Amino acid sequence: MRSFAGRDILSLKDFEREEYFEIFAVADRLRPFAAERRNGDLLKHKTLLTAFYQPSTRTRLATEAAMHRLGGHVLGFSDAKMTRAGDFYQESMKDTVHMLEYYGDVIAMRHFSEGAPAEAARFASVPVINCGDGWGEHPTQVLTDLYTVWQDKGRLDGLTFVLVGDMRMRTMHSILRAFSRFDVKAYVVSPPEMSLLPEFKAELDEVSVQYSEIETVEKCIGDADVVYMEPVVQPDYTKSRVEATAERGLTPPAYRVTKELLASKAKSDSIVLHSLPRMDELPPEVDSTRHARYWVEAFNGVTMRMALLSLVLGALD
Ligand code: CP
Repeated sequence: MRSFAGRDILSLKDFEREEYFEIFAVADRLRPFAAERRNGDLLKHKTLLTAFYQPSTRTRLATEAAMHRLGGHVLGFSDAKMTRAGDFYQESMKDTVHMLEYYGDVIAMRHFSEGAPAEAARFASVPVINCGDGWGEHPTQVLTDLYTVWQDKGRLDGLTFVLVGDMRMRTMHSILRAFSRFDVKAYVVSPPEMSLLPEFKAELDEVSVQYSEIETVEKCIGDADVVYMEPVVQPDYTKSRVEATAERGLTPPAYRVTKELLASKAKSDSIVLHSLPRMDELPPEVDSTRHARYWVEAFNGVTMRMALLSLVLGALD
């Protein structure tokens, strides 16, 4: 198995099956720090640089919290407009990264352009972690999500997932790529204008991912071990920032998971994940059902980033 030390985390396309379990084991090992709200010193000589060109609540703060939990240092920006890449100069990725690599030992980057973290990785002498790139991928989120499922179900093989939401979404790309390594079945539910793109479907077929497209969540939720959600009312992820408008619209019933739907159709032990933020596709009433796992998923976001930072910085293997 390849070592994670010094490695970029850009896509789940190139992850081997055993690497998921290796990361999960490291996450289990580090979990007590987050669970007991204490900070250790594993990365006390290391610095994380967060370069966020697009808004984030969870990913940036969970990654920074993870570094603090490991005793490391953190610096960065969460609004590129306040850097030279976002003002008059429009400083190139190459020049920006040549600066950032002097300031930190690992770079966690979110960007509105698909492929931007991969471009950064070509120029950086330190590992780059993709924290979401346009519609591209969101590998650290999906590692968190699969870890949450694995903890809950004790396995990934043999499970049926219902993926519901905008299939152009970066999490959907990452999770479907991850499925190529496991014996899982997926039902994919999205509005037609947000369905999987033909070239992505060809890629999934190439690696034998088992999925079928279904019109409504109601038609397939009864088979689901895991319901994995994203909004269909959401911004354009290729923009650096999209302001809220009065006419954001409502989610059609075909793409909503309600308390009533879960009670009437879902398996008793099925779980619901949502990387958040949510709109009306997942009403707050679901939070109090036995199916809700998205708060555990959010907590696991810290643990997973602890595991990834420790691995790429070579502190654990
Ligand atoms: N799940 C997720 O990526 O959330 P943020 O956009 O808040 O980071």
